[in-house]
Amino acid sequence: MQAETTRDIGVVALEWRGDSLALLDQRLLPGEERWLTLSTADEVFSAIRDMVVRGAPAIGISAAYGVVLAARSALESEDWLARIESAIENLAESRPTAVNLFWALRRMREPLAVVASALEAVEQLERQAVRIHQEDLAANLHMGALALEVIGRDAPEPISVLTHCNTGALATGGYGTALGVIRSLWKSGKLSRVYADETRPWLQGARLTAWELQRDGIPVTLNADSAAAHLMAGGSIKWVIVGADRITANGDVANKIGTYGLAVLARFHGVRFMVVAPSSTVDMQLASGRDIPIEQRTGEEVRAIRGIAIAPEDVEVFNPVFDVTPADLIDVIVTEKGVIEQPTQEKMVALFGGK
Ligand code: MRU
Repeated sequence: MQAETTRDIGVVALEWRGDSLALLDQRLLPGEERWLTLSTADEVFSAIRDMVVRGAPAIGISAAYGVVLAARSALESEDWLARIESAIENLAESRPTAVNLFWALRRMREPLAVVASALEAVEQLERQAVRIHQEDLAANLHMGALALEVIGRDAPEPISVLTHCNTGALATGGYGTALGVIRSLWKSGKLSRVYADETRPWLQGARLTAWELQRDGIPVTLNADSAAAHLMAGGSIKWVIVGADRITANGDVANKIGTYGLAVLARFHGVRFMVVAPSSTVDMQLASGRDIPIEQRTGEEVRAIRGIAIAPEDVEVFNPVFDVTPADLIDVIVTEKGVIEQPTQEKMVALFGGK
């Protein structure tokens, strides 16, 4: 992933440098573009937990490179395999909801079953991590094309869409999922404007999506989350397009807190609702969204913005950072393996197989 390609795929969130992982510190955007260089799996664990890097696919890719770093650190150790396995277990504790993390770590375990030395482990793990990274970018580009066909069916004129959170190049291996579809719409002349929910409490929409889209010259209007109903009632939004952190076997979708509310609003106003996610986000092991672990983060994220108090310092806070949208409220799920309209368990099993 070279910086020269950013014009086509958007900004880059992470770069593998052979002996380290460079991450664009998303906590500081849009004010400052600072890159951090990580050399250990523990540093990658902290970066995921603390939201230096976020977004389901980017978390999985970062964790994969974290495993490579663990293998490099264990090169001189007798117990290199145990040390790599323990790093994998630790990385799995970094965040609970996005299944891409566990999917990527499972894939990183595969080479370990066949390697005979620490050196071979480093080589094979690096190859696997780079593959995971490249596959994610390819999936995003393909999903952009698939979604274009669906939206293009009944959109003769350029349309306005609403998105939530950040699902762009910053959240993925490049280009983006929902934001990748939005990029594809723009490139093909089918987009007039993107409305970006600010996405309280962490403000991924305000800080990241608005920044990414402006950087790429795509018309964006930022709105408070609470403006979404009024916006849809006005009739200008044709599609809500969002990403996902986990999609269960019945087509339920966990995504950034607020997504469920948008799906309810979209159904009421006759606005279509699209979820865009690579197959690494699909968890056929879980029957429904009720089984998805929902991350709760610190109350500080709600009580303060960048350290400035906006609420009484001791007020109790409810801060689940994801919610579950039932399949019934979803018009289309787009993955690189294909598109599912009006998702059901039967359609999910047909595309992704059983458990
Ligand atoms: O808490 P975050 O910023 O990691 O949450 C990100 C989201 O909810 C995204 O919508 C989701 O991961 C899809 S990213 C392509």
